Amino acid sequence: MLSYKGTPAIKNGVDMSELDNLSVTGPTAAGWCAATPPNETTDEHGAPYVPTLESRQVDPRAPGARRHDDPQVVALRARLKEKNGITGLEIVAPHEIERAARIFFRDGFVVVKDLLNAERLATWRAASARVLKQILEIPGVDGRKYITETGRLPHRYSYGTASASRELLHDPVWASMIDLPTTTPILTRIFGGSDYHVRGAGGDLCLPGAIEYQALHADVKETFQFPPARLAAAERLGIQLRRKDGSDELTFQTQQLVVERTPPHVTINFLMSDLHWENGPIRQIPGTAALVTSPPSPADEPEWMRLSTLVGAPAGAGVIRDNRAWHGATPNLSREIRAMPNVEYHGPWLEEGAFWKSMPHDIWAQLSPHAQAISRRIKTEPGVWPAGAGVMHPIAGKRRQAKEAVTAK
Ligand SMILES: [Fe+2]
Repeated sequence: MLSYKGTPAIKNGVDMSELDNLSVTGPTAAGWCAATPPNETTDEHGAPYVPTLESRQVDPRAPGARRHDDPQVVALRARLKEKNGITGLEIVAPHEIERAARIFFRDGFVVVKDLLNAERLATWRAASARVLKQILEIPGVDGRKYITETGRLPHRYSYGTASASRELLHDPVWASMIDLPTTTPILTRIFGGSDYHVRGAGGDLCLPGAIEYQALHADVKETFQFPPARLAAAERLGIQLRRKDGSDELTFQTQQLVVERTPPHVTINFLMSDLHWENGPIRQIPGTAALVTSPPSPADEPEWMRLSTLVGAPAGAGVIRDNRAWHGATPNLSREIRAMPNVEYHGPWLEEGAFWKSMPHDIWAQLSPHAQAISRRIKTEPGVWPAGAGVMHPIAGKRRQAKEAVTAK
């Protein structure tokens, strides 16, 4: 096999010179691998297969070929150009803290522009391309350009799950974004205080040619548990704990309000590029964060939900979202990568067991006092490197091997 660093960069007979100057902004030759069938994923050993429709992992309406000029791709592109995006999407500024909180609690998400200044945006774009290149330069099989990540749709990767440590907080760039002057005041307002926690950081991306819709899903399910710490957090947010007559039990209305206002898990997805109708804008279904019912299957999802995307959100903005809210990825039919690194937080009332160690002590030690406080549960002891950190691989079995090798040392 020729070295990737050579010119031309040929791997398994496939020209991979597209990775030489990989960027997550602007036109790219990456993506659009016609040798990767629609809806194909890989098992935990890296073997490609197409899941069944019943798995809810496939898009039954996906175009028949992964080609920019395929007639079904052209037809989908025309429909997206005409209709894609939430009508009247509100985009708030970082100083509009009350408005951001009001929209967040109403819809389960809020788009806030200018969370990243020009320097941070440039830094994170470069880091996003650097880590993506690590994933893409692992050669695909049988003429495919890439290996699809285990259990995911083609041309879509998670910066978090593709990391053998499950997070990217060993990377100074991701760690530097957990406490920003633009995000901390909004998070403090949403959580009712500054004693919330960092859970991890990663994010996701789609390459051009990600022609499938990801199924609508909630990342976490509401537990409907009301431990004292959660009720205390609710009271701090101004919720009156009303009880049923002659009982210690909370009224149904109070229980529902506590569920709505105390999200266990909040993520900020940061946009490396403007979201537009063609480049895979994420879709969020407003008002679904506190629902018990499950989202519709891909076969049953109505068109209005498929078009409920955040078109118009600009680069440098973030989507602050309640992870219980229904959401999903949409087709990237453009020639650009859509990258969205993130930071994930847990509410102040979550218990210690909800966390795992992913931030090396040395990185933690260089952070601001507030950043140190909110990430204390996920930092390692001095001298301990998080198991698997630094290894990026699309195949679950390979990540497990890397993690176990480090753990065994
Ligand atoms: Fe998700």
